[in-house]
Amino acid sequence: MKRCACLALLLCLLLCGCGGTAQEQNMPLLILRYGENQPEDYPTTKAAEHFARLVEERTQGKICIRLYCNGELGDENQVFEQVQFGGIDMTRVSLGTLAEYHPEVEVLQLPFLYDDAEHMWRVLDGPIGEKFLTGTRQAGIIGLSWFDAGARSFYTRAPIEGLEDLRGLTIRVQESTLMSRMVELLGARPVQIPYNDVYSALQTAKIDGAENNWPSYAATGHYQAARYYLLDEHSRLPEMQIMSTVALDKIAEIDEDYVTIIRQCARECALYERELWLQAEGTAEELVRDYGCVVTTLTDTQLAEFRQAVQPMYEDYSDEQQALIQKIRDS
Ligand code: GCU
Repeated sequence: MKRCACLALLLCLLLCGCGGTAQEQNMPLLILRYGENQPEDYPTTKAAEHFARLVEERTQGKICIRLYCNGELGDENQVFEQVQFGGIDMTRVSLGTLAEYHPEVEVLQLPFLYDDAEHMWRVLDGPIGEKFLTGTRQAGIIGLSWFDAGARSFYTRAPIEGLEDLRGLTIRVQESTLMSRMVELLGARPVQIPYNDVYSALQTAKIDGAENNWPSYAATGHYQAARYYLLDEHSRLPEMQIMSTVALDKIAEIDEDYVTIIRQCARECALYERELWLQAEGTAEELVRDYGCVVTTLTDTQLAEFRQAVQPMYEDYSDEQQALIQKIRDS
C-alpha cells in the first residue's frame, strides 16, 4: 500500500513537472517519432539510429528521436501521409513512393537514367540534388538528406534469362505509377502491393516475381520464394530522409540552432548510410548466392533491349523536364 502511494507520488511529481521545468531537469523538450519500414539491422535503420544518437548528443538530450522500424507505424505510404500532416515526425522514403505525392521528383528515378552509382551521387550531391531536397516544402515535408538504395533488378519464381521471359508475368511493383508503366513497357503485368505483403504474394503464387535491390531481396526473405535474380539493374531509386514541416516548426520555436543541428546530423547519418549500404549489398549478394539463388547477368545487347523498351517513358516529359534529364545525363 505504502509502496503504491510512493509510486503514485513519484508519478504525480513527474507528470506535474514538480521540482523544475523540463529544461532544468534535463528532460527532452520534444520527442520525435521516426517511422522506418525496414528491419533493425538494415542500413537505413542503422543510419536512423545514428541520427537519433547524434541529435540527442548535440542537443544535450533536449530533442529525443524514437525510432519505430519494421513498418510498426504503418506501410511506407501510410507513414508518408502521416508525416505530411505532422502525425509522424520523420521517415525515410523511397522516391518510388515520394513521386506519387510530389511528382517533381519522378525524373530522378527514370529507368537506366544513371550510368552507375557514382553518376547518381554526382547528381544528388550537386545543385540538382540540393534543389530537389529544398523543393519539397509544398508537399508538407522537409527534405533533409539522400540515402542510397542501390539498383533494382527483377526476381522471379521460375527461371528467367532475358526480356522475352518477362513477357506476360505478373510482377509486383511499389504503389508507383512510374514503376507500373515501366513494367508494362517491358511486357509484364504490374501489380501494386505494399512492401510487407510481397513475401506472402510470392509464396502463394499470387505474383510471379518482383523487383528490388540486393539488401531488400535478402532482408525480406523474398530470395527464398523467388530464386531467380535477373541482374538488369533497371532503376536506381535513391531515398530521401524527411521531416514533417510541423515538426520542424516546433523545433524552430524551441531553438533555431536545433534546426541547424538536425540538418547537420541528417547529412552526417546519410554519409554513414552510404557506407553501410555498400557493405550490405555485398553481404546480401553472398547470402542469396550461398542459398542457391540463380543470378543471371545480361549481355550488352540484352541490356540494350531493356533500355529500348522503356524509351517511351522519356518522351512523356515537358521541354523543361527534358532539359533537366539531359543535364542529369551529362553530369
Ligand atoms: C526498398 C525501399 C523501401 C520500399 C521497398 C519497396 O526496399 O527501401 O522503402 O518500401 O523498396 O519495394 O516497396
